[in-house]
Amino acid sequence: MTAKAKDAEQPPSAPAANFAHASEEDFTHILDFYGVAWQYEPRSFTLREEDGRVLEAFTPDFYLPDLDLYIELTTLKQSLVTEKHRKLRRFQERYPDVQVKLLHKADYLSLLAKYGFGPFSEVEVAGIHEVLISASALEHRVGELGAALSREYRGREPHLVGVLRGVTCFMADLMRHISLPVSIDFMAISSYEGDQGSLVRILKDLDEPLAGRDVLVVEDIVDTGMTLNALLQELRQRGPASLKVCALLDKRARRLVDVPIDYVGFEVPDEFVVGYGLDFRQKFRNLPFVATLKRDWLTAHAEDKQRPE
Ligand code: IMP
Ligand code: MG
Repeated sequence: MTAKAKDAEQPPSAPAANFAHASEEDFTHILDFYGVAWQYEPRSFTLREEDGRVLEAFTPDFYLPDLDLYIELTTLKQSLVTEKHRKLRRFQERYPDVQVKLLHKADYLSLLAKYGFGPFSEVEVAGIHEVLISASALEHRVGELGAALSREYRGREPHLVGVLRGVTCFMADLMRHISLPVSIDFMAISSYEGDQGSLVRILKDLDEPLAGRDVLVVEDIVDTGMTLNALLQELRQRGPASLKVCALLDKRARRLVDVPIDYVGFEVPDEFVVGYGLDFRQKFRNLPFVATLKRDWLTAHAEDKQRPE
């Protein structure tokens, strides 16, 4: 098997993994994100030979078995692109039945950026450990929750109360999956321990009264349960006809207060998670998935501990 001629601008010290370029490893994150199986450089194709000796070969960077497709990542360097196109033409002449696609780095970076990686979010990406819940898994589960709530509240008009700011993505998606008339309202709170147990301090109150309404509290994540517990105490005093809770994430392992959650999207492990509205120091909220942060990154930023909200 003849080795692939590597691009000239490759840094002298290759990354620890067997990838020739860091960009190749980044690309695997996208594939993993989509749940697309991949193989790295599984096959070399002979392009030219003489007396059984291989003079030129082409080893595409990736093979995606589900799509039966080879992918070759390219850079913007014109000299290399031209050379690659030449190779590709030769390849297609010799192997007309094999599907191969050139993915230019420009396309590839905008693809990365779209999913929260890449040049527009380098700071965020630096801290991400792994995607815990993909965008498609979120979409699917939020749809299920919406359907369940539509059954539960049939014939009524639920009033969704969201706790800012982490709930924004969840609220926006969830309400569009409830096939009933709904109304929404938001509040911002901070919780603390007082003499009479936990209390909520209301930073921004609801705009509308709750008396006689079917109130559904929509939460991003329930961790110790302190915030939700205090919030429910407060809301109960406002005389709603009913009061239920729908939380996207349940970090059950850390629960200190036994608080009832009627609807849960996902149970998550005892790790700090970000994305889909959730933040660490106001960052990462715009990631379209829920991800864990790298422990060493968290430790390095621990002095700026996040204020729950
Ligand atoms: P609890 O009072 O401990 O249940 O805290 C709940 C609040 O803390 C949530 O509404 C979030 O704002 C915040 N929080 C707890 N765990 C996480 C996390 O893993 N990522 C981001 N925010 C979190
Ligand atoms: Mg919150």
